Amino acid sequence: MNFRLPFRAGLTVAALVGASIAAFAQTPASASGSAELTVQYNHPLHAVSPTLYGLMTEEINHSYDGGLYAELIRDRTFFNREHHDFRKIWNLDQNAEDGISISVDDQTGPSDALPYSLKLTAAKASPSDPGGVDNPGYWGVPVWPNTTYHASIYLKAAGDDNPGPVTMAIVNKETGKVMASATFPAAGAAWKQYTATMRTGNVAESENNFVRVTVSHPGSVLMNVVSLFPPTYDNQKNGDRIDLMQKMAAMHPTFLRFPGGNYLEGNTLADWYDWKITIGPIVDRPTHPSPWGYQSSDGMGLLEFLEWCQDLHMQPVLAVYAGYALDRQHIPPGPELEPYVKDALEEIQYVTGSTSTKWGAVRARDGHPAPFHLKYVEIGNEDFFDPSHSYSGSHGRFAQFARAIRKAYPNLKLIATMPVKGDVQPDVVDDHFYRTPQEFLNDTHHYDKMSRKGPKIFVGEWATMEGSPTPDFGAALSDAAWMTGLERNSDLVIMASYAPLFVNVNPMAAQWGTNLIGYDSMHSYGSPSYYAQVMFSKYLGNQVVASKLTGAGPLCFESVTRDEATHTLYVKVVNASPKAQPLTLHIEGAGEVAHSGTLVTLEAKSTHATNTITDPRNVVPHTEEVNWFGSDVHRTFAPYSINVIEMHVQ
Ligand code: AHR
Repeated sequence: MNFRLPFRAGLTVAALVGASIAAFAQTPASASGSAELTVQYNHPLHAVSPTLYGLMTEEINHSYDGGLYAELIRDRTFFNREHHDFRKIWNLDQNAEDGISISVDDQTGPSDALPYSLKLTAAKASPSDPGGVDNPGYWGVPVWPNTTYHASIYLKAAGDDNPGPVTMAIVNKETGKVMASATFPAAGAAWKQYTATMRTGNVAESENNFVRVTVSHPGSVLMNVVSLFPPTYDNQKNGDRIDLMQKMAAMHPTFLRFPGGNYLEGNTLADWYDWKITIGPIVDRPTHPSPWGYQSSDGMGLLEFLEWCQDLHMQPVLAVYAGYALDRQHIPPGPELEPYVKDALEEIQYVTGSTSTKWGAVRARDGHPAPFHLKYVEIGNEDFFDPSHSYSGSHGRFAQFARAIRKAYPNLKLIATMPVKGDVQPDVVDDHFYRTPQEFLNDTHHYDKMSRKGPKIFVGEWATMEGSPTPDFGAALSDAAWMTGLERNSDLVIMASYAPLFVNVNPMAAQWGTNLIGYDSMHSYGSPSYYAQVMFSKYLGNQVVASKLTGAGPLCFESVTRDEATHTLYVKVVNASPKAQPLTLHIEGAGEVAHSGTLVTLEAKSTHATNTITDPRNVVPHTEEVNWFGSDVHRTFAPYSINVIEMHVQ
């Protein structure tokens, strides 16, 4: 696979492509020595952070365009017109007889943001032989039977030779058969958006389709913002893919960190994430370059991020641009940085302000009068890469943003992307880890001894880099081992999010090697690491209780939590060894332990076992009821297994 390296220096290629490092001996299974896990049920050590598990995403790997954002038309605004690159996506309808041509009209477009358009000219079109342009979608266009799609387009007559109504159709690539279509009225003299619905009949499910936009009479017409949406999550306009929203919901995420990541920074100072161009009607969004090698449609803009939080009951963790780019240039702290500080304050006002504030009113105009609740703001991304150290000094970029934000919004908690010097300290520091399995397995005690006197920790990006495009079971095992350490230390580590979350698995769609959830235009799947995340966040409890593991092999890891209110105990045992692990669980201090519980296990015969788009359920959790007699629970945990026992305690 060909992965395009991001501009960022400092990450190894091995990290990017998902290094396959043999962390686990593939030896035949036999049993390790018997272990004892003693749990002091009535000795809670500290609360589990209520925001421990959340999500981090950005526009990488076609996470939004060609991913979560449900738009089916690729390059709906012909953004690469200068280089005629849009022609790599938009093609002339090969079925039409000669006489169809397309060109860019730079003189007129539907908005100030899109001051240009595509001119479609048909010399010979007729109702029996219409002609137009084809769009491939994002590696196919999904067709489901008996399904309604929402189509829209901006049109303007190009002159007196108006070709009349314009038709949009989904066409099967192999058969050429129209699966659904809608016709818009003839364009008028002024730019106007036309909308229509199209519905498939009793057709077979398939993604081997494209979209065709045609006219049936000779003439020229101008178009832009050509759009087609399938059903979306909660039927929202400009909405999200249902399957991906459901997969995220199953992770019980408590927060969403956005908009990045490198995506916040941009390759150069000119490419910064300018949130103001991502709000309002789509026609007013000019699009912008993502640092991951393609243009972002910005259909997933600031308000859409916030609505996504609302839909999945997550709190937003808003990252504001802090004057640093991936090419290692920065805006110096002081007067030159002030406009960006002001911009961040306005962004926070857009998110949280009442409708009587300037930017709160703009949010209301955009369709969301109610302010969003915001607690955490992150200032920048990975500023430890800045060779000038302009971020971390006592008069650095962080301090300048932090002073201004705290003055205007004293209740916000501020996250720094690295430790900073001086009086202006962050509430939280964001740590990132992209590691081999061995590195995580060796470091599950990373936070055990860390001082509790400084800022809290947000592990804002982390992943075991093994497996591509999505992690294999070996990665899931070391992810799970690492998460036992996060849980045990969740008095300090208050938030954690795996990254990257999404990957479109089509060739050339991805820029990063190991990603949690894979999909094509129609199907999606969770990797083994995804299921490990689901298990850890679903069975979490709200207090960490004292526990001690003795006699286990070095690849056995545990974390024990309880839910005080429901008297539920959660025992997580990760056996990253090729040998079975017998274990006796002693529960001390509990009045009475029920003699049955539920055991959820994710296991595989090999660390290389994985899920793929064509074999999505090879490694998935299974659940069984477990019973025992007396106060001790004896259980042999399978080789290579991630286990959670849920039991009721009186
Ligand atoms: O998650 C991929 C990238 O890794 C992020 O954009 C960046 O913050 C980190 O370097």
